[in-house]
Amino acid sequence: MTGFNTRLIHGKNINDNQTGAVNMPIYNSSTYQYPTIDGNVRWDYARSGNPTREFLEKQIALLENGAQGFAFASGMAAIHAVFAIFKPGDHIIIGDQIYGGTYRLIEQYFAVQRLQFTTVDTRDITAVEHAITPVNKAIYFEPVTNPLLHVTSVKQIAQIAKQHQILTIVDNTFLTPYLQRPLDLGADMVVHSATKYLGGHSDVIAGLVVTKTKALGQRVYFIQNALGGVLSPESANLVRRGMQTLSIRMDRQQANAVKLIDFLTKRTEVAVIHYPGVHGTTDNQIAAAEFDGFGGVLSFELQKNVDATKFLNQLRLIKLAVSLGAVESLAELPFEMSHAELPVAKRIQAGITPQLVRLSVGIEDAADLIADLAQSFDFVAASQNSTPRLRSSERQII
Ligand SMILES: Cc1ncc(COP(=O)(O)O)c(C=O)c1O
Repeated sequence: MTGFNTRLIHGKNINDNQTGAVNMPIYNSSTYQYPTIDGNVRWDYARSGNPTREFLEKQIALLENGAQGFAFASGMAAIHAVFAIFKPGDHIIIGDQIYGGTYRLIEQYFAVQRLQFTTVDTRDITAVEHAITPVNKAIYFEPVTNPLLHVTSVKQIAQIAKQHQILTIVDNTFLTPYLQRPLDLGADMVVHSATKYLGGHSDVIAGLVVTKTKALGQRVYFIQNALGGVLSPESANLVRRGMQTLSIRMDRQQANAVKLIDFLTKRTEVAVIHYPGVHGTTDNQIAAAEFDGFGGVLSFELQKNVDATKFLNQLRLIKLAVSLGAVESLAELPFEMSHAELPVAKRIQAGITPQLVRLSVGIEDAADLIADLAQSFDFVAASQNSTPRLRSSERQII
């Protein structure tokens, strides 16, 4: 097989190109002509199949080493399709720090459809095993959580799941197949918000599913075609194009993340840094064993007397926004923004404090990002006139 970068660029030719165009064209036709009433056609109706979408579906299946890929109108539509393959009464274990929108879908939609769920900290393998019931069908989790970047071993979860003959389903949005291939580690299905790193330019909303087997693929295809939440050809093209530069973008994002962490570690305003690449933690050990890189998202806790709102409002280059994974750096305050829907007590219990800042690191020059953070720290210090002075040895790095 060719290398990962070669596969990123070329995907899998589906031989539909009559012109010699080096890229898969955007096919906007909603329907396709039959040669005769009994003619055997490859395409008939674009909800059921579209060449531009299929190129992307094959591309992601190739990169994740899966049997089949499916493209949806959003990450949430992809996640909905995955849960929709189960029946009323089925039980599913879910990670306790999954994306809030996924939690809302489960709690306010699928629970009403009589799927049963148990929420577990998936880092605790014993707790996961104890939560398995006779009607359990799957374990669903994110190997790197948001915004605290906790790490769960896909290998360990998949091992337990196999013993109990249940499915392992992984939301691989944060790592992408460039940094982790969950199917190779034993998982059965992977979902993506392709809105993030795969698209990579904050200009498209999209979701992807990859199944390890054709049999699982048939179940997902039934939902995709029956419910119809498909990705448009234009959006499929944007994700296809974004994915071609995935590895070079992520290389720069990770290199920049390391430089920002070096800077943040030296700042007295910063109490704790969360990043899977920070040594000496269990999270780091698992990440080192199962990831090919630590990713481009980090979060950090400001000291109690540093005004987090002022700090974020003062950023000039780094944009204040809730998404992540794009070429531009984005910052946010999870307590007030991405995780504001959670009740305050739950936010605090989960470690999402009003002092926690999340950074999605872009591909700008690291020196400019550092200068932006520095001017913002200095502004807050000047306006508060009382920057805390902790020796670095007193600071806790997670
Ligand atoms: C980890 C994760 N999964 C799924 C989603 C949902 O994807 P979308 O916003 O594309 O519907 C998000 C969105 O932020 C996410 O961060």
